[in-house]
Amino acid sequence: MPGNTKTIDSGELGKSVAPTTLRAVAGTFTTGITIITCTADGAPQGCAANAVLSVSLEPPLMLISLGETSRTRVAVERAGAFAINVLPDNSKGSALCSVFAGRSDDKFASVDHYGGLLGAPVLTDALGWFECAIVTTQVAGDHTLFIGLVVDAGHVPGDPLVFFRGQNRKLAA
Ligand SMILES: Cc1cc2nc3c(=O)[nH]c(=O)nc-3n(C[C@H](O)[C@H](O)[C@H](O)COP(=O)(O)O)c2cc1C
Repeated sequence: MPGNTKTIDSGELGKSVAPTTLRAVAGTFTTGITIITCTADGAPQGCAANAVLSVSLEPPLMLISLGETSRTRVAVERAGAFAINVLPDNSKGSALCSVFAGRSDDKFASVDHYGGLLGAPVLTDALGWFECAIVTTQVAGDHTLFIGLVVDAGHVPGDPLVFFRGQNRKLAA
């Protein structure tokens, strides 16, 4: 019936798929690559992320998933808002992916950006961007899901960086 959710005891059942297997199979699901950004306590923070989902058009809702060890996860919780910056398939997009997949303390040092409506950094070189105010937060295993109400969004022409089986790829022509 609509609205009914069957809950399965995930304790033992969840152990039947090893993390390495899950990662490999998840890698067959091709995605773009984004940089999730926010500003917490006056400091910009961000990381590369591909766990991003367009949830609803009316109201406009986007979902991101950040791991428990991610400093961006902590900062997003504090900020109450985030931006999703979709990376383009060019040298700047690849460079941004490398910087933001790392753990540097000053990822924004040589990255062109401006403050969005909610304060989250919007990357000047993004192919597309969403600025979101958090409306729902849900811990799910070792990640936290954030659903954000989109308050502004935009895009420019170009192709996206593509992520497949753990590597950056190009769209087929
Ligand atoms: C293509 C790609 C996609 C990623 N997707 C996610 C993601 O969706 N969620 C996440 O928490 N980490 C993701 N990561 C890993 C983070 O970018 C990485 O752990 C980063 O160092 C976290 O930085 P922080 O601790 O400064 O937040 C991804 C990395 C790459 C390269």
